[in-house]
Amino acid sequence: MGLAELKKHHGDLICPRCSSSVQVDESGVRCTSTACPYSKEPFPIIAGAPALFDFEHSIVSVEQLVATSGSSQIPREQPSSRFRRRLGTFLHPPNYQAERNIPRMLDLLRQDAGPSTRPVVLVIGGGAVGKGLDDLYAAEDVDTLAFDIYWSPVTQFIADGHRIPLADESVDGVLIQAVLEHVLEPQVVVEQIHRVLRPDGLVYADTPFLQQVHDGPYDFTRFTDSGHRYLFRDFERIDSGTVAGAGTQLAWSIDYFFRALFRSQMAGLGARLVFSWLAHLDRYLDPRYSIDGASSVYFLGRKSPSRLSPQDIIGYYQGAQR
Ligand SMILES: C[S@@+](CC[C@H](N)C(=O)[O-])C[C@H]1O[C@@H](n2cnc3c(N)ncnc32)[C@H](O)[C@@H]1O
Ligand SMILES: [Zn+2]
Repeated sequence: MGLAELKKHHGDLICPRCSSSVQVDESGVRCTSTACPYSKEPFPIIAGAPALFDFEHSIVSVEQLVATSGSSQIPREQPSSRFRRRLGTFLHPPNYQAERNIPRMLDLLRQDAGPSTRPVVLVIGGGAVGKGLDDLYAAEDVDTLAFDIYWSPVTQFIADGHRIPLADESVDGVLIQAVLEHVLEPQVVVEQIHRVLRPDGLVYADTPFLQQVHDGPYDFTRFTDSGHRYLFRDFERIDSGTVAGAGTQLAWSIDYFFRALFRSQMAGLGARLVFSWLAHLDRYLDPRYSIDGASSVYFLGRKSPSRLSPQDIIGYYQGAQR
């Protein structure tokens, strides 16, 4: 999608600094408020995609973005050979919850939109297509709009989830998978999700709980299932639970233990190969026990005008400890 097309279909782009509308033309993207620094200093365009950051308040700098042509700071190669793809599937079982929940979310979006409207789903941290999302990307009756902090062929713009450059109530659904652990202020990102969603809009979040550090310096936070629910307290719950359970968690722990013992990532990979069967046992575990030791959790919810209270979160607990 080119710039003009992006503006035509999603004319709701706003300045991430002051929320004024932006002017998009071939010379670039500028904020329309003369009081805003981004009216004088246009947002860079990287490989045809606008980079709509408030650089003063982001971990991404304009210098780094321009110098690297928007590349990710973390190497993110896709497995090139069929053997490496098969190895990836063996080590990491499919995301069965996303495979089940994404079609559910799409059905709800279609029901809400009616036959004449195409729902828009915003994917945050969508530089790579996450696991279990095939139905979303294949849906011909849904517009998928994705962004990340780096440029990728599957994103339409580059931005920071702490300041989403889209107008209030401009999308029908938001998907955020394996991202909230990488942002400095998850609550701010969730407030942004709430802001850009139309009333009754849907969110699907899939977030690590007991997982070791990944993406090195870009990994900040973890959530229990209850903490994750409370993070989305301004949303009505449709469903929530474990994505990957205690078996996956144990396989990751063995991997990182061997890395540390032998001072080698390859040693961890070797251990993971030997113990990968643990992750495949997740589906046989008791969900109440497994969620207390889960590797990751999900939340599917609807934007709500009312808030889950601090007392309600105690009654929400889905684990096995009473
Ligand atoms: C572990 S990867 C997950 C990628 C993809 N969603 C998936 O499930 O495979 C985390 C992603 O979050 C992105 N990310 C980190 N900080 C972000 C931010 N502030 N705003 C938007 N995306 C961010 C990273 O660049 C990266 O693409
Ligand atoms: Zn501005």
